[in-house]
Amino acid sequence: MAAKPVVKRLVVLVSGSGTNLQALLDEIAATGTEAYGAEIVAVGADRDGIEGLARAERAGLPAFVRKVKDYDTREEWDAALAESVAAHEPDLVVSAGFMKIVGKEFLARFGGRFVNTHPALLPSFPGAHGVRDALAYGARVTGCTVHFVDDGVDTGPIIAQGVVEVRDEDDESALHERIKEVERRLLVDVVGRLARNGYRIEGRKVVIQ
Ligand code: GRF
Repeated sequence: MAAKPVVKRLVVLVSGSGTNLQALLDEIAATGTEAYGAEIVAVGADRDGIEGLARAERAGLPAFVRKVKDYDTREEWDAALAESVAAHEPDLVVSAGFMKIVGKEFLARFGGRFVNTHPALLPSFPGAHGVRDALAYGARVTGCTVHFVDDGVDTGPIIAQGVVEVRDEDDESALHERIKEVERRLLVDVVGRLARNGYRIEGRKVVIQ
């Protein structure tokens, strides 16, 4: 009998509407955990009352919230976040619109298996306003980048990118919506391939086996 395929454990971190989380949930439900290669075992957030947490609840997933303001220092928050994620024993942690920079403790535990999605073509327009900054700069193309997280802001090794044209009539919200359509497909594709095939990080290059 063939060995049972390994299903990787994902913890997904969110701060907002959670449509990237939903895309992962929908794909895994449609494909099946074994064929996709991964399942979401928990969702974490840095704030309450967001649609991302409601999506987790509707999917019947355990969720946790770790707010910076509930801790005396940023380091304590980071350690608490890392502990909450570790409790779910993830193989990969996915930052899907998680709007916080994690610290040393988190990276010590999850570095090399912490994936982020960013709404611009890195290394252009890193930071919290990637869509607004690309528009203000007058870029004619922008897009999204799925990358591993290192100790910089959106500086880690790039796994995959998707390109989106900027239209003359675009405002930040219209452009962001078109980027997110590409971003959701890219994230679902990348996470599945990392989970199923395995990968190695060689300097700045990510090789998916
Ligand atoms: C995404 O564009 C992500 O790159 C950015 O915020 C958005 C999150 O969207 N940081 P959602 O919460 O997954 O809908």
